[in-house]
Parts: sequence; C-alpha cells; structure tokens
Amino acid sequence: MIRDLTGILIGRDTSLRHALAAMNEGALGCLLMADDDQRFVRVVTDGDLRRAIMASDDLDQPLSGLSPVTPLTTSEDTSAATARQTMNRAKVLQLPVVNADGRPVGLFHLPSMDQPILLSAPHMGEEERQLVAEAFETNWIAPVGPHVDAFEDELADLVGMDGAVALSSGTAAIHLALRLLDVGPGDVVFCSSLTFVASCNPILYQGASPVFIDSEPESWNMSPGALSRALNDARAKGKPPKAVICVNIYGQSADYDAIGRICAEHDVPLIEDAAESLGATCGGKASGTFARFGIYSFNGNKIITTSGGGALVSNDQIGRAHV
Ligand SMILES: Cc1ncc(COP(=O)(O)O)c(C=O)c1O
Repeated sequence: MIRDLTGILIGRDTSLRHALAAMNEGALGCLLMADDDQRFVRVVTDGDLRRAIMASDDLDQPLSGLSPVTPLTTSEDTSAATARQTMNRAKVLQLPVVNADGRPVGLFHLPSMDQPILLSAPHMGEEERQLVAEAFETNWIAPVGPHVDAFEDELADLVGMDGAVALSSGTAAIHLALRLLDVGPGDVVFCSSLTFVASCNPILYQGASPVFIDSEPESWNMSPGALSRALNDARAKGKPPKAVICVNIYGQSADYDAIGRICAEHDVPLIEDAAESLGATCGGKASGTFARFGIYSFNGNKIITTSGGGALVSNDQIGRAHV
C-alpha cells in the first residue's frame, strides 16, 4: 500500500492545470480528491482530466465541475490480497484507503502491486565493471585469456580441488564429466529425481539412459537407501550404471558419507551436481568436492553468475589433460 499521499492529494477547487501537473509528477495515473475537512471525495483519473479538457480547454477550471461518482474505498485493515480482488472485480486500478473519519490515508495501486518478484537479480559492482573493461582493453574477448585462467585457479583453490575448468554452462560441465567417464550409447546413468532437467539432459546427449533415484524426506536429495537398492538391483541384472549424478538441491548437500561409500562399494563413479551450492560446506568441506567430479553453474540465478557459465572441478588431473 502507498502511504505517502503527498503530491496526489488535491482539493475540490484544484484547477485542471494544477491537477495535470500533480498527475504528471505523481506518475500513478490518479489523484485523490478530499473536501475542506480532508474527507475523501473521489479518485480523479487521468481519463477524468482528459475528458475535462475535451469538454472545455480552460485549464483554470476547478475540478469541482467533474461529474459525481460513487467512491470506492476500503478500510485500513484491508489486506493486499483482498484489495487486489476488489480492484479486479471493480475493474479499477486504484483503491483509496480511508480511516474511520473518512480521511484518505493510503492507496492500493494495482500496477505497482503487480510488479514481478524477481527470483534472483544479479548484483554487478564496480569491480566487475572494471574487469569487463579490462577484458575489452586487452582484447581478451575470445576465446579465453588471463582472467579465465585466474578464475579457474581461484575456484579450485576456494573449494580445495586440484583443478577447475571453466565452461559455457553447468550442463556442459556435467556433459564433460560423462564424456570423461566414457558414458555412451546403451549405458545407464543414475540421477537424482528432484532436480532441474539439466542434471539429466547430458545423459541423453551421450545416448545413455537415465534412471532416477528417489529423494530422502529430510533433505529432498538422493536417498542413500534408494541408491543402494537400485545398485543392488542393477548388479543382480548385470547392468550396473556407468555413473551416478547426485544433486545438492537448493544448495543443501546430499549425504555423501553414505552415497560416496555406496558408490565406492559398487565401484561406480560419482558426479556431484553442485550447480546451486557453490560456497556451501558440509562438515567443513566445500560442496562440489565430495565426488570424483563436481560441477557448478554460473547461470543468472546462481550464487555467482557470468550470465551463463559453469565449471567442472576434480582432483583428477589426467582428466584435465584430456580436456
Ligand atoms: C541442479 C542443477 N543442475 C544443473 C543446472 C544446469 O546449469 P546451467 O543452467 O548453467 O546449464 C542447474 C541450473 O540451471 C541446476 O539447478
């Protein structure tokens, strides 16, 4: 609710000229008219002003000449949801709030209320601006350059892995991990079931088949019990998965003590999808470092963003030479 009505409150005798200026300044598409006792009279919309001009081009005419309307108002205890319903029902964009004395004390303004709530607006500071300018100045626009090398080293240091490779997306990082593990047509890869589709898309890119492992209720991440049962089942059928992709959903670490142990028992490599959990730790260890490969995403809605980007981290330096 807008509580500061300064500038949009007008009297009955306000001139059309003054009202036009106030409407322009307030930028809400309406003014609130009150009488000499400050009691609410009516909403004046930009349409009302337009019609007044069409009726007479005398800009000094007082607004008291506007045709009367039955005012639609609400009380101070009205919730935003109720106000929205009232406005939608009445097909109006504004709903004045009046107190027990009938005086305007606020305004519900539908266009302002319908502003989208952004999921995660990126924050760009002065340092980012300088570094982007430096990339232009030194012409390191393509393909990589000293900043990408430094970024990879700093990322590996930060999370405590031997190496990091910057890539075009988190999806590309999962894809690369699967390629490094030689996943190909006819293979099966286990994947967390509650995740963004990008966790499993690269399995299909490689012509392999995903098998989804259910979540545990506590963390919504892969259930070690379900994984163990699925691995035993796969072993019994003679078709073990080529890899397991385990996701840390919403930044919360999966239970890698159990999942790592189970994968080791079955000799199946583990990929940790830490797309959403850069910076988190579990038992003092960085998220993304619990498996043979960890991946991060720098998509616009992630912890840090490069607009689009990702990284693969690993202690497997042979894999890195391969890349
Ligand atoms: C859990 C998870 N895995 C993978 C990805 C893929 O990352 P990207 O969008 O950078 O390809 C995302 C996010 O988009 C994600 O949330």
